Amino acid sequence: MKSIDVVLGLQWGDEGKGKVVDVLAPRYDVVARFQGGPNAGHSVCFNGTGFVLHTVPSGIFRQGSVNIIGNGVVVDPVILMEEVAQIEANGIRTGEKLKIAKRASLILPTHRILDAAQEASKGKSKIGSTLKGIGPAYTDKAGRASLRIGDISAPDFKERYATLKAAHLREISSLGYTEFDITEYEQRWFAAVEAMTRFEFIDNEVDINRRLDEGATVLAEGAQGSLLDIDFGTYPFVTSSSTLCAGACTGLGVAPSRIGQVFGIFKAYCTRVGSGPFPTELDNETGDTLRRIGGEYGATTGRPRRCGWLDLVALKYTVKLNGATALIMMKCDVLSGFDTIRVCTGYEMDGRSIDWFPYEAADRPVTPIYKEFKGWKGDLSGIRTYDALPVELKDYIAFIERYTGVPVKVISIGKDRDATLFR
Ligand code: IMO
Ligand code: MG
Repeated sequence: MKSIDVVLGLQWGDEGKGKVVDVLAPRYDVVARFQGGPNAGHSVCFNGTGFVLHTVPSGIFRQGSVNIIGNGVVVDPVILMEEVAQIEANGIRTGEKLKIAKRASLILPTHRILDAAQEASKGKSKIGSTLKGIGPAYTDKAGRASLRIGDISAPDFKERYATLKAAHLREISSLGYTEFDITEYEQRWFAAVEAMTRFEFIDNEVDINRRLDEGATVLAEGAQGSLLDIDFGTYPFVTSSSTLCAGACTGLGVAPSRIGQVFGIFKAYCTRVGSGPFPTELDNETGDTLRRIGGEYGATTGRPRRCGWLDLVALKYTVKLNGATALIMMKCDVLSGFDTIRVCTGYEMDGRSIDWFPYEAADRPVTPIYKEFKGWKGDLSGIRTYDALPVELKDYIAFIERYTGVPVKVISIGKDRDATLFR
């Protein structure tokens, strides 16, 4: 039975995955994160309170659903336990609901330092990493050196930690990076490792498949976005995991034949935080307006996000890579008030016009070709039916559907749970 649905970002992250998962969660028995780590910042907002989740699945606020941190995730115990404290301070219990994969890799304090050292050594060509240790942690995973959640209970856990730490310190030193002190973070890290043991550590692939066999439904929650994917993103300006739908299979231990709906999320415009190509970037007043109205500052790092028009060439590419069956369009409210809206429908590169996202975009400028739409005015936040949306917005949506060949099933017109229209 196809009972795993997947929610993932189709752009460069920050599409609104947290809100969408929170809205959809009551329809599922299990919500499971399948990749990434505390580089993610998933915002959920209800009853006037906002939360930012980095590691905990965004289904945690709903009663009844089990939340699993999958084997594909990299976990920093300090950040995880801070999140748990924030959630519990608001009267929401996590104990029974949250389960962690034994096969998930740990982010060590020295992974964070390594991340900083590697970025510093890159100078101008730095990735703009979130400095959470993501790249180095996945490097160790691929290098078969990781410590994993299931190792926490091993009698030689501390020795293995010391060995890995020593290897990291050698590498940090070889990069000439000296300005750091992990004493305090390391103490908090070990305390958080201890505190984490109150959660159940599971063989998530066995657990999830058993639940599916018994008829349960699962919502897989992606982090980052398809254009940050390790294989198909704008390499090397990417993250270090598989952010595509395929990552849900390897990051949870489920077969592709189990996947049902693939919900691809995109913003009504584009943003990117960190370095790397961004064909429709608006390095001008319009970009500043999008940033201001959209509150486009990183939920994890606070950095201002780069803003630009919607790029349909890139969107069609990621729709294809994921096999998206439905689109979810976020932040339509932010575009209210523009006289005209532009959308990229093609690229020009080396004097040729192309309609795919080229390998060469990583190091050669591509010029976007735009189609212009009439804008709309007024506050959308009170609207509760699709039909009541401005006709110009409906035209814009219809064009996106025609271009990508996939229906837009959900439209978000504000931060809150309730500002969500279903079609
Ligand atoms: P969510 O899940 C937006 C970006 C970083 C950097 C690159 C690599 O909230 O959508 P990393 O720390 O992974 O080594 O950084 O990826 N990045 C994100 N951008 N949203 C995210 O997550 C991101 N996670 C990483 O800015 O350019
Ligand atoms: Mg984010």
